[in-house]
Amino acid sequence: MDLEVFNGLLRPKSIAVIGASDTPGKIGYTVVKNLLESGYEGPIYPINPKGGEIQGLKAYASVLDVPGEIDAAAVVVPAKIVPTVAKECGQKGVKGLIVIASGFSEVGRDDLESQVVEIAHEHGMRVLGPNIVGILSNSDQCNASFAPFLPLPGKAALVSQSGALLIAMDASTYIRRVGFDKMVSIGNMSDVNFADMVAWLDQDETTGCVSLYIEGLKDGRRFMENAREASKPIIALKSGVSAHGAAAAASHTGSLAGSGKVYEAAFEQAGVVMAADLNNLFDRTLALSLQPPMPGDNLLIITNGGGVGVLATDSAERYGLPLRYAPDDVQAELQNHMPEFGSAKNPVDLTGMAGRDWYQDSVQYAFAHKWVDGLVVLYCETAMTDPQDIAEGIQEAVEASGITDKPIAVSFVGGERSEAAMRWLVEKSIPAYNEPDTSVNAMAALREYARNQDLAAHSFEPLSDVDEAAAREVIAKVRAERCRDMTEIESKAIFEAYGLPVANTRLADDEAQAVELAEAIGYPVVMKIVSPDILHKSDAGGVMVDIKDADGVREAFNTILDNAKAYKSEANIHGVAIQEMAPWGTEVILGSVNDPTFGPAVMFGLGGIFVEILRDVTFRVAPVSADQAAKMLADINGAPILEGARGEEPKDRQALAELLSRYSQMICDLADEVQESDANPVIVYEEGEGAIIVDARIILKDND
Ligand code: COA
Repeated sequence: MDLEVFNGLLRPKSIAVIGASDTPGKIGYTVVKNLLESGYEGPIYPINPKGGEIQGLKAYASVLDVPGEIDAAAVVVPAKIVPTVAKECGQKGVKGLIVIASGFSEVGRDDLESQVVEIAHEHGMRVLGPNIVGILSNSDQCNASFAPFLPLPGKAALVSQSGALLIAMDASTYIRRVGFDKMVSIGNMSDVNFADMVAWLDQDETTGCVSLYIEGLKDGRRFMENAREASKPIIALKSGVSAHGAAAAASHTGSLAGSGKVYEAAFEQAGVVMAADLNNLFDRTLALSLQPPMPGDNLLIITNGGGVGVLATDSAERYGLPLRYAPDDVQAELQNHMPEFGSAKNPVDLTGMAGRDWYQDSVQYAFAHKWVDGLVVLYCETAMTDPQDIAEGIQEAVEASGITDKPIAVSFVGGERSEAAMRWLVEKSIPAYNEPDTSVNAMAALREYARNQDLAAHSFEPLSDVDEAAAREVIAKVRAERCRDMTEIESKAIFEAYGLPVANTRLADDEAQAVELAEAIGYPVVMKIVSPDILHKSDAGGVMVDIKDADGVREAFNTILDNAKAYKSEANIHGVAIQEMAPWGTEVILGSVNDPTFGPAVMFGLGGIFVEILRDVTFRVAPVSADQAAKMLADINGAPILEGARGEEPKDRQALAELLSRYSQMICDLADEVQESDANPVIVYEEGEGAIIVDARIILKDND
């Protein structure tokens, strides 16, 4: 990253406004007015062919006439003029273009957009936008946008793909008490994208936390890398996940990937915390910008009201932080700060009689206790207490505890006095919310951040005992004959080249060979039709199981061929597969997709109805280490089945995790060829007894 150029674009020391205007109501008027009103201290150069004066500033006919240096140019002329002004900016040595103008790729003018980027790159400039609102920065007193004013000052930075949403969020920062130092509208992302912004904001000393509104990423893998390397919390609200890629999916895995699950996985793997909606983005941003991550799972709740305590307890469970009773020493000490009828368990109920002292003393003690990983303090406004007094007690307790490596969040439920007290708390860096649920959710965000950081730290070591060349040979042969669908025999050959345990499966051309192979494999056997034109083998009557002798093999051979011909007379039939019959065990499914944003991703789930009806599956961007794969096994709702539920023996999760990791390497190595794949079913046995892939399917990329 060329920091000088990015700093020039995003923290400019001088700005030209190209298309500056003296006519109120025009965007070129508003941008100049906003720069002046925000107190921008660097030189502002209005550019307008008419020259003269604009809003009291000397205007220039072209940037080339400006005497001083220009860091950034805000471009507010109609799209068709933008390439011309970009050229002039390049000649002038401008570092970055903030292209507010619309009328580019969003309306099918990709050509105009690439032309601007090309010109910019020829001159070493970077382009923000086009189709954006602009940039806002409190620490630079710079509102180079048509958003009404700078946001409430704070430590967060917002990068938004939607301009309108940025404007709305800007205005609502004051109502929501969430402070931002910067807001950057990123629009069409013709050049600068989320990956760049994450890297730049990470090194920007005025940013403490990065908040993203994402409709789609352009460079998923680089985004993940930059996010993983970032030292600051990143929180993302992703919209438009519903139909992503689902329609075109050819395999089981492909259709399951369609609900944004790959995005979710990618964010988690990159250490990014997700927000569920706009409110949640604000609430979580507040916590992540003010508080440290939550280092463990022990959440303690202190309250003066049983009702809010129970609500918060429910929320804690909902957000993955179920409450545990506080240890005896904590309970014993807290009992000193409540009446006899209080409760020191968890939630700690100080009762409605609690005043400042009880709050202050219990918060100070609990926050410093090593068992407590995070503290939520709830307060219901009463006639006997002053919310401001309680707020000050909490703040003093936190300060006196000297603790800075674990978080606190509060909720005051009440009226205007509580609102004012919460505003005061936020100014003191204690996130405060109106609802118990929100403060617990904020704490969960701080816990997720810590957990995701751990997850992102796992690294993948590629295995060397794989034969990529052999796999590619199989693919080349298929490509030479046909296009995309590989038969089970071909797919399994690739799996075998990667050392994956597949059920012994051989192709028979005729009855005699079928018997020969069956005897070599050992009875009972399974027999299946092998045809690139028949992928749903059972539907075609092309699968027969538990065949016990040579007569059975001969009969099955002919029945399967007859059924296949009746199902699809023109099908190209390669023969019949003879396969060892794997012993019964627990069925699971492994799958992969080549996601348009993140590339190869793996899926894991329980087989049978669990995958078809319950869709109980989990995804990760590939490759995954065996440790990460083990986490996938634990992620699904049906995990207890693998762990050995209801008297069953635990299943060989280690073998399964290793298999999944190896499989993820295969789909990464072959990502230029493989679009989707399934290993379904895979049968997993009891601990120490491994797992076997019974059926496998690979769909190649459509290279036409
Ligand atoms: N250099 C500098 N200024 C120039 C110029 C040039 N080469 N050519 C024309 N101008 C001046 C015009 O004379 C005009 O100034 P004036 O008011 O003094 O006459 C000014 O630039 C603006 O040009 P105009 O043709 O009046 O355009 P406009 O103001 O109606 O619209 C945009 C310009 C960029 C605002 C408009 O095209 C647009 O894209 N609007 C949408 C913006 C948006 O919504 N962005 C995304 C939000 S999410």
